[in-house]
Amino acid sequence: MKFDVITLFPNMIKDACSHSMLSRALNTGIISINTINPRDYTLDKHKKVDDTPYGGGAGMVLMCQPYFDAFDSIQKDEHTEVFLLSPQGQKFEQTTACELSEKKHIILICGHYEGFDERIKIYTKAKEISIGDFVLTGGELPALCIIDAVSRNIEGFLGKIESAKKDSFSDGLLEHPQYTKPREFRGLNVPEILFSGNHSKIDEWRRRQQLLVTARKRPDLIAKFKKNCNNSKDLKLLNEVLFPKTEYDRNVD
Ligand SMILES: C[S@@+](CC[C@H](N)C(=O)[O-])C[C@H]1O[C@@H](n2cnc3c(N)ncnc32)[C@H](O)[C@@H]1O
Repeated sequence: MKFDVITLFPNMIKDACSHSMLSRALNTGIISINTINPRDYTLDKHKKVDDTPYGGGAGMVLMCQPYFDAFDSIQKDEHTEVFLLSPQGQKFEQTTACELSEKKHIILICGHYEGFDERIKIYTKAKEISIGDFVLTGGELPALCIIDAVSRNIEGFLGKIESAKKDSFSDGLLEHPQYTKPREFRGLNVPEILFSGNHSKIDEWRRRQQLLVTARKRPDLIAKFKKNCNNSKDLKLLNEVLFPKTEYDRNVD
C-alpha cells in the first residue's frame, strides 16, 4: 500500500511513522509513505501557501496553486483514492479502515490554518474525510490516524491478521476484556473460565462479554448489531445479556 501525504509539515508524518509497527511495516515494505510539501511548489520567492479570505474574516486560507501543483506531481492511476482531511467530511470508521486496506494507493491532503480554498477539493476530486466532530489545528494527526488504522488491516502488518479482525468495531461490537499473567494481582482475579481449557466455553464467554461490554458502553452499537444480526446463537446470547433472568423467572422456569 502506498500513501502519499500532501502536507506543510512532513516531519510530523515522518517522525510519527518512525516508531513501533508503522516503522516495521515501512522497513518490510508492507506500506510506503511519501510526503509532498506544497511549499516546494510555490511560485513566489516567499514560498507563500496561504492568503487572507475573500469577503474578510479571521485566519488564512490555503491557496490553490501550491496544492494543485503538489497534487499534480503525484503519479496516480484509476485505483488511486484521494481524501481531503476535513472536520466536515464523512466520518472515518473501522469499516472505512478495512475497506481502504484493500486499496493500493491513497492520497491524503492535509489542511492547516482556516482550511482549504474550496477549489482544491473540486480540482483534486477528493472525498472529504473526518476523524470526528472536533476541530484540530491541521490534517496531519488525522492523516496519521488513517494511515495507522488502515495499515493494521493489511495482511502482514500485525503478527496475525486475526488480531485486527477481532478488534473493537470489526463486527460491530466492542472487544471482550483481556487478561494476562499473573492470575491474581493485589486481590484481583482473572475469570476462572479462562483457565478451563474448554475453548468453546471460552469463546462463548468472550462473545457474551462482547455483547455485555457493548450494551453497557455503546448502546447505539448494540441497537445496530441487533437490527443486522441473523445469527441465532448471537441473538440468544444478546437476549440473555439484555434481559437477564431474575430470581422470580428462575423459580417460574
Ligand atoms: C483548523 S482546521 C480548519 C477548520 C475549518 N475552518 C472548519 O471550520 O471546517 C485546519 C485543518 O485541520 C484538519 N482537520 C481539523 N479537524 C479535523 C477533523 N476532525 N478531521 C479531519 N481533519 C481535520 C483539516 O485538514 C483542516 O483543513
